[in-house]
Amino acid sequence: MKPTRRSILAALLAVPSIKIASGLNAHAASPQPALALTPSCQDRDELTVAQTEGPYFKPSSPLKQDFAADAPQGTSIIIAGYVVGTDCKPVPKALVELWHADDHGAYDLDGYRLRGHQFTDESGRWWFSTIIPALYPGRTRHYHLKVQRPGGDVLTTQLYFPGEPQNDRDRIFDERLLLQISDTADGKIGRFDFVV
Ligand SMILES: [Fe+2]
Repeated sequence: MKPTRRSILAALLAVPSIKIASGLNAHAASPQPALALTPSCQDRDELTVAQTEGPYFKPSSPLKQDFAADAPQGTSIIIAGYVVGTDCKPVPKALVELWHADDHGAYDLDGYRLRGHQFTDESGRWWFSTIIPALYPGRTRHYHLKVQRPGGDVLTTQLYFPGEPQNDRDRIFDERLLLQISDTADGKIGRFDFVV
């Protein structure tokens, strides 16, 4: 039976995620994140929209999900969600790669601070423990990501924050790529489900 939007959500909320919990443990006592009750996977899902890679991608990022030590002065956030197909079926072992600006709006061009990749778990879940990037001239606040199901094409895209004054002035911004932000007892959580 195909997982539905409801069952995906139920699984995410009902099953303690060891991986997400371990990320949270770095900053909080509670091991269980409370993800928002707002799944993005719908009955007739459309593929997540692609966006420009931008000038700061570096290949060969490390296998790494916890960026906290890369920007210790930054505002912590967990970003997490599923990789699913257009049928809402979770995609295990999908590549999810993240790179973004630090708390001063700068990218690490010499090393791999705030750069890393992972593979989704058996339930198609991904997460990063990182910071909220600062703005830099010409852009609203954003993350850069690449997502690839095993053997599939690489989706290059970006994710955004709701309520940012610069969103309306950024020509690349797309409201379909907004994170769903929750302020929980475990800290800020940004949720996004990729459809590939
Ligand atoms: Fe950027």
